[in-house]
Amino acid sequence: MTVLGIESSCDETAAAVVRGRPGAGGEILAEALLSQTAEHAPYGGVVPEIAARQHVRHIDHLVMEAMERAGVGYEALDAVAATAGPGLIGGVIVGLMTGKGIAAATGKPLVAVNHLEGHALSPRIAGNAPFPYLLLLVSGGHCQLLAVEGVGRYRRLGTTIDDAAGEAFDKTAKLLGLGYPGGPAVERAAREGDPAAIPLPRPLLDRPGCDLSFSGLKTAVRRARETHPDAPVADIAAGFQAAVVDVLVEKSRRAMAAFRALTGQAGRAGFVVAGGVAANGALREGLTALAAREGFDFVAPPLRLCTDNAAMIAWAGIERLALGLTDPLTVTPRARWPL
Ligand code: KG4
Ligand code: ZN
Repeated sequence: MTVLGIESSCDETAAAVVRGRPGAGGEILAEALLSQTAEHAPYGGVVPEIAARQHVRHIDHLVMEAMERAGVGYEALDAVAATAGPGLIGGVIVGLMTGKGIAAATGKPLVAVNHLEGHALSPRIAGNAPFPYLLLLVSGGHCQLLAVEGVGRYRRLGTTIDDAAGEAFDKTAKLLGLGYPGGPAVERAAREGDPAAIPLPRPLLDRPGCDLSFSGLKTAVRRARETHPDAPVADIAAGFQAAVVDVLVEKSRRAMAAFRALTGQAGRAGFVVAGGVAANGALREGLTALAAREGFDFVAPPLRLCTDNAAMIAWAGIERLALGLTDPLTVTPRARWPL
């Protein structure tokens, strides 16, 4: 199956053509992606209005570029898949309407994809993630632990009750004057710092379960700046990163136990990490060691498939199309859409 995917729910405008089939994996024939980082950087975060305008401006030529580079005509497509939510509504509208337009003009089926499902199924593009597996999704907008049992069959084991992990990195970077996007900047600074110099809290670790919280940590960073005005920024960055890693590793450990109880999977199972924060070296190290201890196979998709992209949307389209799960042209964009 060959599917065109469109993604525009946050600050990446992207189109991709993927060919493949569920279970066997897929080949990304072409990908065209434009990141809006530079447009949002002066504001220290994504500005929805600017994002929507950028999507409108670039979506058409990115779709055409992906189709051209893939070397397939519209008649060769089996479906058009577009993110229908959750996300910034202006952007979601742009991508879904573009997908609808192409589907209407070509007579091809439309698949309205949940962006989170795109992330959840992304490791299967490589063909090495049989169901069920445990997923830690950590990005700027999302932070959850999911048992992925099949297409459309997800069980949320834990979620953040306030900020996402990436959001915490971005806000901390802003507090420390490290610039945007915050994750890579904090990681770079943390390399020169002592994580034990300024003790920071590990939110929700004292409570049972897999839910996460990061807003208290951000407040603690602000307070640390006030009470230790001469402390090197690197020490605070290192302390913050160590706290995030500790929390994510411990909550993942608990989720592994919950996953085993839920699925009856006693032997080896996959543990996948996705989302932009998966780029963090310290986190990868912690999760790799955890997986080895707990008998899980650690899977970290290549970074370009971890961050927002259209190949994962095209792939989710392939998985859904194979099950006959297409959508009518009347389907509506959704800012909120839990899996
Ligand atoms: O998945 P993504 O590209 O977009 C969505 O938010 O959906 O994730 C972006 C997030 C940002 O918050 C960014 O600061 C964070 O991922 N990030 C990192 C690193 N690289 C990106 N966080 C920690 N360490 C990194 N090296
Ligand atoms: Zn995302």
